Amino acid sequence: MSPRRAPRIAPSILACDFARLGEEVQAIEAAGADWVHVDVMDGHFVPNLTIGPEIVKAVKRSTALPLDVHLMIEAPERSLEDYVRAGASTIGVHAETCPHLHRTVGQIHEAGARACVVLNPGTPAEAIAPVLPDVDQVLVMTVNPGFGGQKFIESMLPKIETIRGWIDESGRDVALEVDGGIGPETVVRAAAAGADVFVAGTAVFGAEDYAAAIEGLRRDAAQA
Ligand code: DX5
Ligand code: ZN
Repeated sequence: MSPRRAPRIAPSILACDFARLGEEVQAIEAAGADWVHVDVMDGHFVPNLTIGPEIVKAVKRSTALPLDVHLMIEAPERSLEDYVRAGASTIGVHAETCPHLHRTVGQIHEAGARACVVLNPGTPAEAIAPVLPDVDQVLVMTVNPGFGGQKFIESMLPKIETIRGWIDESGRDVALEVDGGIGPETVVRAAAAGADVFVAGTAVFGAEDYAAAIEGLRRDAAQA
């Protein structure tokens, strides 16, 4: 069993003021964020359309923080290299979009990024099991992807516990991330279930004081 890592906070820029993107990214870096979470949506896999590789490049120019790029797009194997070239440290692909998931994980590594596999709320933990020995990160969605500001789905907690158990058994250093509805109360429950990376959009960018919001989430997660 590898030692549990300290909680990391990844603010989602989906909730930032896009008219001031560079400043917002610099503000969360100054406020102590660990990673920048970038939500890429294609209007097909999810009912919303956001950003592409050019904007990821602009984010990369604004910060030294690692970019955690969450691809909510169909056929991610067609464009994931573009996001790595744009500056992604981690590429997250949804299991639901990858008929050849093991191949896509290999493709992410060949492109030079950490590989994360993402599970929708309706997808069971078992979907990750065949590729768990190959991934660097698992992301359990705690809302249905597409929009910020949704309510945390409590029934995802047993799924987080199950995957935490498998990661601990493996002894590998695999990050376990949660995304959606994370705030001061839900971060505690997600951390207690075994998550160690916390995406937060509204809870950070909706706060007056980004540093206090990030530090509060990190403290609450660490105490769980
Ligand atoms: C949802 C996105 C999330 C979203 C989280 O599809 O993947 O990253 O920005 O936003 P909050 O924290 O507001 O639920
Ligand atoms: Zn996300």
